[in-house]
Amino acid sequence: MTDITHTHRLTETKTVKNQAFEYQRVLAEYRDKLAFVSSHGSIAAVEKHRSRGKLLARERINLLVDEKTPFLELSSFAAYDQYENAFPSAGIITGIGVVHGRECLIIANDATVKGGTYIRETIKKHVRAQEIARQNKLICIYLVDSGGIYLPEQAHVFPDRFDFGRVFYNQARMSAEGIPQISVVMGSCTAGGAYVPAMSDETIMVRNQGTIFIGGPPLVLAATGEEVTPEELGGAEVHTSISGVADHIAEDDIHALKICRKIVAGLPVPEKQKLDIQPVKEPHFPSEELYGLLPTDLKKPINAHAIIERLIDESEFQEFKANYGKTLVTGFARIWGFPIGIIANQSFLTSESSLKGAHFIQLCVQRKIPLLFLQNITGFIVGKKYEHQGIARDGAKLINAVANATVPKFTVVIGGSFGAGNYAMAGRAFDPHFLFMWPHSRISVMGGEQAAGVLKSIGNNGSADLLLKQFNEESSAYYSSSRLWDDGIIDPADTRKVLAMAISVSLNRPFGEAGYGVFRM
Ligand code: COA
Repeated sequence: MTDITHTHRLTETKTVKNQAFEYQRVLAEYRDKLAFVSSHGSIAAVEKHRSRGKLLARERINLLVDEKTPFLELSSFAAYDQYENAFPSAGIITGIGVVHGRECLIIANDATVKGGTYIRETIKKHVRAQEIARQNKLICIYLVDSGGIYLPEQAHVFPDRFDFGRVFYNQARMSAEGIPQISVVMGSCTAGGAYVPAMSDETIMVRNQGTIFIGGPPLVLAATGEEVTPEELGGAEVHTSISGVADHIAEDDIHALKICRKIVAGLPVPEKQKLDIQPVKEPHFPSEELYGLLPTDLKKPINAHAIIERLIDESEFQEFKANYGKTLVTGFARIWGFPIGIIANQSFLTSESSLKGAHFIQLCVQRKIPLLFLQNITGFIVGKKYEHQGIARDGAKLINAVANATVPKFTVVIGGSFGAGNYAMAGRAFDPHFLFMWPHSRISVMGGEQAAGVLKSIGNNGSADLLLKQFNEESSAYYSSSRLWDDGIIDPADTRKVLAMAISVSLNRPFGEAGYGVFRM
């Protein structure tokens, strides 16, 4: 192992200054968009909601979590720039918060957005949150206030494997794995949605506010001619004293959240993965310096070492195989005191860098050190020489190591994520515990110009300009986040904090054992 600590002090060159300036524009756009998707539904819908004595979804979350603890909100941009922007954050808020000292996955419907109903992205977000709870063995809390499926979209949300039914399937599977699930019914809970509280371990309902029924009053009237009010059909009083579908009755939102906190406090504390955790030490170089290191033109190279040093404790990077396969930077460090193995692209992947990456992953798996992938990748190297050398075989080893790593993986797209390089660097298909994008980053099968070139070379006369435009639009971080290809877009300067929370969360499920010894590649 080479014990080298790099120190990439930032020189205020013209390029750095220009990039830092340009990044402020990127950040301003990011903050504007974030404020927009975080603003709940229309003013009228918010007023109506409040007039019923109900708290907004984010207010409910704030009251549920411990004071002065951060909430890691996920996929805020879900459904952004789709459906004429009628579904901010896809009408559901998901994230991880601390309740009575326990990290919990919280899923809260936003009833001010089309009655909290589910479109495709709402379901994807709900199911993804459950996946996170399951992968990290987190207590799952549902703050329910939803009209079920958004009926005009039923063909996109009802029947398929990962559609609405998956929510309840997941609940059953999570329960079987011993993951506690608690529902707080703070509004409507209709049709399939009734199974969210019904499948939970314990359910709280708010009096004169929460309802649970398989078919609402209009449906009952149409089907049977019976006339009944929502409260009579499935209100809190009914379900806590007649049907037994729910367990606790609360007087209002605040009371319900208090009961929920009490339930969490009484849950047994499971064994966590042990790690050698050291006191937190700030990097030598401030995270804000990252902006000056990031060209928004992704064709320009970025310095992986300099980026790493602004993310890790004391900027101390113990590099592994520094002089071999230099297009992939690998090494050990700490983030917020947690040990981490870092794999970062410095250029395209070669045979040597693929083998180096596979070797390094095996070391981390053996030592039970979580892995961080910093993606800025155009793909694997192409050309006759490299094919003859067996780039596909060596790339396969890296992909195999990534897929089978039994330690938690975290991926941050810090530049471009193109082609098979996305897979080898723990893209979404490789089940990283969390995947985040930086606001300027891009993700697509290849760059737009390359795609236009490929089509032209195979005789497709489609418009290169149109394709370029399409690729530009479809590769943006917002396009990705809108479709839940990632867990959210984060400010580069917040990355350390976000990763620290993610690593901490991952310790709730003990890591798996390495299946093999270390193959020196
Ligand atoms: N599908 C499509 N749109 C729906 C909807 C559904 N299931 N439920 C509510 N909406 C829409 C409303 O049309 C309204 O849209 P608008 O803002 O464009 O006018 C908006 O959501 C809010 O609904 P509204 O009824 O005004 O709000 P509310 O707070 O008084 O009531 C519900 C909310 C969810 C209790 C009520 O709308 C309802 O009972 N919806 C039907 C629930 C149902 O039967 N679902 C079965 C689907 S599986």
